[in-house]
Amino acid sequence: MKNILFFSVLLLIVFGCSEKPNKDSLNEDASWWKEAVIYQVYPRSFKDTDGDGIGDLKGIIEKLDYIKSLGVTMVWLNPIYSSPNADNGYDISDYRAIMKEFGSMDDFDLLLKGLHERDIKFVMDVVVNHSSNQHEWFKESRSSRDNPYRDYYHWWPAEKGTPPYRYSLFDAKGDAWKYDSITDAYYLHYFSEQQPDLKWENPTLRQEVYDFMKFWADKGVDGFRLDAFQFAAKDTTYPAFPDDLEENFIQYYAMQDGLHQYLKEMNEEVFSKYEVMSVSEGAGRNFKEAHELVDADRNELNMAYAFEGVDIAKPEGYSLSHFKEVFSRWDKEFAKEGWLSIFLANHDQARLVSRFGNDSPNFRAPSTKMLNTFILSMRGTPYCYYGDELGMTNIGFDSISQYQDIAAINGYEKVKTDGGDLEEYLINLKFASRDNGRTPMQWDSTIHAGFSSGTPWLPVNDNYKTINVASQNADPQSCLNHFRKMVQLRKDEPVLVYGQYELLIPEHEQVYAYTRELNGEKVLVMLNFSSEVATVEIPVKENLEELYINNYEQIFLKDRVLSMEPYQAFIYSLTK
Ligand code: GLC
Repeated sequence: MKNILFFSVLLLIVFGCSEKPNKDSLNEDASWWKEAVIYQVYPRSFKDTDGDGIGDLKGIIEKLDYIKSLGVTMVWLNPIYSSPNADNGYDISDYRAIMKEFGSMDDFDLLLKGLHERDIKFVMDVVVNHSSNQHEWFKESRSSRDNPYRDYYHWWPAEKGTPPYRYSLFDAKGDAWKYDSITDAYYLHYFSEQQPDLKWENPTLRQEVYDFMKFWADKGVDGFRLDAFQFAAKDTTYPAFPDDLEENFIQYYAMQDGLHQYLKEMNEEVFSKYEVMSVSEGAGRNFKEAHELVDADRNELNMAYAFEGVDIAKPEGYSLSHFKEVFSRWDKEFAKEGWLSIFLANHDQARLVSRFGNDSPNFRAPSTKMLNTFILSMRGTPYCYYGDELGMTNIGFDSISQYQDIAAINGYEKVKTDGGDLEEYLINLKFASRDNGRTPMQWDSTIHAGFSSGTPWLPVNDNYKTINVASQNADPQSCLNHFRKMVQLRKDEPVLVYGQYELLIPEHEQVYAYTRELNGEKVLVMLNFSSEVATVEIPVKENLEELYINNYEQIFLKDRVLSMEPYQAFIYSLTK
């Protein structure tokens, strides 16, 4: 009943009382998960309450009012299950227990209750392409060839010779097969050797996964994010792959036969039985595959997130025309069917402003606000990563000994073994490393930025004295308050969620301009992506009506010519 009511109110808001949904402009039907604004919290780095230097669930509970103050409607936490933490929780040793550093199941229940009391939904990270090598299943599986759990993982008996090469993303040798002397066999691990791949071809394993997902759904979680799931299906004859595997691993690993069958089964067993949303990491190898994952009639997932947009930023910079082209192409492809996520940063990326904006003192704040204006005014469900609302920046380590991330450390070993250029590797890491995006949340200017009373597991960025929640709370012009305004605007204006997107002045080298339009409502989004003033004629025929948001105090406009300040971003409604 509650849902029917919610849905009718929604329809009223979106379409007005009498208007029928217009399929052409609407992208299917209204859904709460399309209207969600997701805030991603890296639990290890958000707030520590017991002084061990590692964030915990009690810390997130303590900050629930802060999260609420952002206006976001859903929180995604990176994995919080028991884990030996080879890959910070992406190696799970018990899918029904909470990591001891993070707290207890009671803490989790309180956290979920606290979120729900604030009308915030919760997304659980589900890591089931692989488990930890410390999971009971794997301990059993490796113990003997005829163990009942043997077939939960991929094994290659050594008497068949060396298995055909598979590239591993996190392995120090780049080799996805690890020899295990206990049973004289190799097991497969697309990520690190502590993360053996689960064998989805085994129906018993699949049932185990659905069962634990139901365990969390019964607790009341509102969504699932499927980690690396596009790699889950495998050809268990393990044929030899072409030689360019390392450069093109997604080509050979993603979307193998069986994957859709597993997703349909998961949908039937879990998603269809609860009010939950589902999102997959990765959107296949092409648009067709992306649609097959998320189109409504497929009964698989609600949405996916694609990497092409986030991959644009490079240490040497990126071109705005490329950026516009990629986001416009993806939008066009999903304009009428299917739904995607929109994001520029997460725990696998460096900081938003350091990669896509300009983190020098003069431009850090305006470019952060501009990028958040972009994310929150595009079609697709926005995913906003903790700290990016403040414009937190890359920490920029110089030496490999400063890194904690297994991908960085093993990657370094691999370059060394291969005789590669270590200096170049470090330069790239300084810009792109995942640890850049994992430094502790900057709450205030007290020791360790108010994150912990102990020594943080990863150092706090030195700039915490100036970039922190306390100081930005007090400043109406801060990045934080801009973020809040922008979230509110998205929630107030369905045109920003459902409206048709149209790219304007594609050739302009500094300005990204587009309109969103829904049932006669039209808004103009203008974003200066450069550190120079940009001159541009208003790129629509309509007149500017109401200024919805602006990251500067003024707009310089003369005879329909705008002079946009560096990284200026604003949104106007347009006359009908
Ligand atoms: C996904 C996660 C990443 C993790 C990897 C292995 O890409 O986002 O953080 O390291 O999967 O689980």
